[in-house]
Amino acid sequence: TAPLRIAVIRGDGIGPELVDSSLEVLGAVAEATGAQIDVHDEPGGAAVYRETGRPLHEGALDRLREADGVLKGPVGLPDVRRPDGTEGGLLGGELRIGLDTYANVRPVRLRQGVTGPTRHAPGQIDYVIVRENTEGLYLSRGNGVATPHAASDQMLITRVGTERVVRYAFELARHRDGAPRDGARRVTCVDKSNVLRSFALFRRVFDEVAAEYPDVEADHLYADAAAHALVVEPDRFDVVVMENFLGDILSDLGAGTVGGLGMCGSGNIGTDAAYFEPIHGSAPTIAGKGLANPLSQLLSLAMLLDHSGRREGAELVERAIGSALEDGAITILPTGSPEGGTAAVTAAVVERVRA
Ligand code: NAD
Ligand code: IPM
Ligand code: MN
Repeated sequence: TAPLRIAVIRGDGIGPELVDSSLEVLGAVAEATGAQIDVHDEPGGAAVYRETGRPLHEGALDRLREADGVLKGPVGLPDVRRPDGTEGGLLGGELRIGLDTYANVRPVRLRQGVTGPTRHAPGQIDYVIVRENTEGLYLSRGNGVATPHAASDQMLITRVGTERVVRYAFELARHRDGAPRDGARRVTCVDKSNVLRSFALFRRVFDEVAAEYPDVEADHLYADAAAHALVVEPDRFDVVVMENFLGDILSDLGAGTVGGLGMCGSGNIGTDAAYFEPIHGSAPTIAGKGLANPLSQLLSLAMLLDHSGRREGAELVERAIGSALEDGAITILPTGSPEGGTAAVTAAVVERVRA
């Protein structure tokens, strides 16, 4: 088979450490499966912004579209600012809107061998947040109006934008591996349609699309009640779809129930481009110390391999992570960092990929 061409954005803070860990694991996958893998570096993020005034180099989007897979480390340095005062180099607008990756897919799963802060058992927390990724409140990014005394941002929900992400959620519910709730496949729509007209449109479009999927149960929760339910009855969730900003917040909440931000990878998926990254940020206070949990990046790598049709490689990585957690080779501490640091996790996963 042809070589797999992977583009890598190392990012800022803990990004490079996590990406290095993933490249070690990817090397082991290549050996184990006999695949040839070409890795190309694409600079991006806050450090690049500081140097060049732009978060990506010229032509980057085209190169990322042409790659078979894009693996991105977290970006962001809180002191690197744009003229409007927001952070420079965050790439949210550039990559998500630039590549039109409209579905931000964020699996939340309590794994065997990980202790969460609630009393739930593995198997009771296993759902996927599908976050709309190109509009909602974030379309206001850089477009808000501010005076020293008042500032406003606007949320935009469109029919087209909602329809495509809701359809993605129903297709995922139909096909995904993972425990269907009580034997049922379900998509939950999370919004605040009781208060805001934009969310009322989101829910109306959700209901229209749901009617095309009679085999998948359609469910609704207001976002405040959803935050509560995600903590106290996570087993009611299968696929959960929501607006961009709500998805940002509730996915970090979900991560908090399964061992921390370092346990959650994600995919930003569009029609002709996709990229994969941890859901968390660049964790500046632990950067360079080898303390970060790389599983978020490794799980993102597994999602990338799966998305690129390398199912065997994806399963190798997933199974290696699962067994290393189960047999205690990896322990996630209550701080969210792994015992033995990043290196111990990488070594445990590489060893199992090779086995
Ligand atoms: P953060 O996600 O970087 O960190 C939140 C907390 O979680 C910190 O205590 C951090 O140490 C910890 N943490 C995060 N990842 C971890 C890991 N893998 N292992 C162990 N602990 C981990 O959020 P923040 O501090 O609010 O933001 C830092 C920077 O990251 C900001 O510049 C922010 O804008 C940016 N950011 C980028 C992305 C992205 O690239 N997709 C996502 C979120 C935040
Ligand atoms: C995420 C991040 C981004 C977001 C930031 C860094 C722009 O928090 O990927 O969840 O808010 O979408
Ligand atoms: Mn976030």
